[in-house]
Amino acid sequence: MRKGDIRKASVIVGENWSKRYQRTSAVEMKAEFANKVYPPKYVVAEEGGEVVGLGGYIQSWMDYHVYNIFWIAVEPRQQGRGIGTKIVRKIISDIKKKIGESSAHMVLLTTDKPRFYSKKFGFRILASFGDMEHKLMGLKLNK
Ligand SMILES: CC(C)(COP(=O)(O)OP(=O)(O)OC[C@H]1O[C@@H](n2cnc3c(N)ncnc32)[C@H](O)[C@@H]1OP(=O)(O)O)[C@@H](O)C(=O)NCCC(=O)NCCS
Repeated sequence: MRKGDIRKASVIVGENWSKRYQRTSAVEMKAEFANKVYPPKYVVAEEGGEVVGLGGYIQSWMDYHVYNIFWIAVEPRQQGRGIGTKIVRKIISDIKKKIGESSAHMVLLTTDKPRFYSKKFGFRILASFGDMEHKLMGLKLNK
């Protein structure tokens, strides 16, 4: 993601969730460029120079062997064309590069679309929570 992608990427969050999340996610995305200790990283998918999807990840302060994935979203008109799969695949491969030869790592995310993550990437449901039946999912990464 480049700084100039933040506006469009946050609009995609807004289209998929809400205006409030559009605003809060834009603030979070700016943290990638603010020289923080462990900044979040964002991946964007582009088509014809336009941002059409995004996804973020960060190393957890709970345990350096844990990564969190968030804001996986594709523009509503572009969904179902493989873009989300490419974004998640790229994030997992970036995390694998970071962990190098060290021991097993865990990737965690929450979602109301567990099948997308289990079918394509092998994430497993660890817990269910909340009114909207959100799932906490995990994927063990072994080098
Ligand atoms: C979920 C999402 C990221 C998937 O991205 P996408 O580009 O539409 O997905 P893909 O085209 O890569 O499809 C991947 C597979 O998941 C399935 N899939 C796509 N959207 C799905 C959905 N909403 N629910 C369940 N399965 C879905 C597809 O059937 C496809 O399977 P197939 O390749 O065997 O046909 C996208 O639909 C989206 O932005 N949704 C709204 C935001 C959201 O809910 N994000 C995820 C929660 S964190």
